[in-house]
Amino acid sequence: MKELIEDSEKYLMNTYKRYPVVLRKGRGCRVYDVRGKEYLDFVGGIAVNVLGHCHPRVVVALQKQAQRLIHVSNLYHIEPQIGLARLLVESSFADKVFFCNSGAEANEAAIKLARKYSRDHFGEGRYEIITALNSFHGRTMATITATGQKRFQEGFEPLLPGFRHVPFDDIEALSDSLDGRTCAVMLEPVQGEAGVRIPSGDYLKEVRRLCSEREVLLILDEVQTGIGRTGRLFAYEHYDIEPDIMTLAKGLGGGVPIGAMLAGDRVAASFVPGTHASTFGGNPLAAKAALATVETVLEDGIILEECRRKGGYFLGKLHTLKEEFSGIIADIRGMGLMIGLELTRDCSSIVNACLERGVLINCTAGNTIRFTPPLIVTEQEIDTVVDILEDIFGRLS
Ligand SMILES: Cc1ncc(COP(=O)(O)O)c(C=O)c1O
Repeated sequence: MKELIEDSEKYLMNTYKRYPVVLRKGRGCRVYDVRGKEYLDFVGGIAVNVLGHCHPRVVVALQKQAQRLIHVSNLYHIEPQIGLARLLVESSFADKVFFCNSGAEANEAAIKLARKYSRDHFGEGRYEIITALNSFHGRTMATITATGQKRFQEGFEPLLPGFRHVPFDDIEALSDSLDGRTCAVMLEPVQGEAGVRIPSGDYLKEVRRLCSEREVLLILDEVQTGIGRTGRLFAYEHYDIEPDIMTLAKGLGGGVPIGAMLAGDRVAASFVPGTHASTFGGNPLAAKAALATVETVLEDGIILEECRRKGGYFLGKLHTLKEEFSGIIADIRGMGLMIGLELTRDCSSIVNACLERGVLINCTAGNTIRFTPPLIVTEQEIDTVVDILEDIFGRLS
């Protein structure tokens, strides 16, 4: 493992602060490093592995598709892509889908579609997109500009014109920011990177009302919340609203890179041949894996129902832990299996202690442990993680 890590540091650009582990294989909620050490994976590729590692349905879909057709251009119709688009449309507010390869790319497509739609219907000068402070929308130039956090933007200036940020969960601030230049509002239904921040009460309903009233498009970035993570296929379903545009990635391919941008017919009509494209977007292999993933997540609704139940179970356990360690745990936030445990201190030492004990967890926003385990996680696996945390917290206090 030591030699592999040395080579990794020698040959890869230094963009990630990696833990000193080389992971080689995975099954269900468990991964194994090259020495054979087992880890319970509560990171799940950061909300990617919704069906766990190497789910048999995804593996078989990939094997069969790899033998049939791996890639052809979007100049031709692609069978698995058609099936996937149909399933997404039939399961959502949308009428049309554009496929790409990542969350940032899906958001780029959404930004372009919103601007193009606004130009087509309202003329020039109406291009501004309002996003939230502490949001996260990706690492391309447009998406770091959309992202409401300076630390992702510094050093890359000049940023793109046409973006403004307002406090999240503050309807008055949003209302005040909308003017004749605004073409869209873009929000995460639950802010993930910011530490699992769930908007209060009717905020998203009010945002929807405001956007409709002012003829401004509502873009929901469901890159992290989509595909069952919050206990519904899409998080907007919790709020009894529908967006005009939605973006997906992470969970969509069950581990295979794919992104999607969805919209209703009227908005989607602003994209015509030549306005947007992606060589690999929705390629046969990725689309087939995503089709198997979404079909499995939707089957009988069991995975979604179980996600809500186990999310509640996990939250209950964490609340019990908070009673014992009120000096360490500041807050607990969660929806389905997207859970944030905010600490009164930096969480990196706790992540390291968990790694040592064979548990993978993620620290975001400096002091928040973000749990995004596979949706197929069991109660026993949740118990194991909570027991290990209890032990680690016990040693700290
Ligand atoms: C809400 C949200 N949007 C966009 C992205 C960017 O996705 P990607 O890393 O696939 O480009 C992320 C990634 O964490 C995300 O959480």
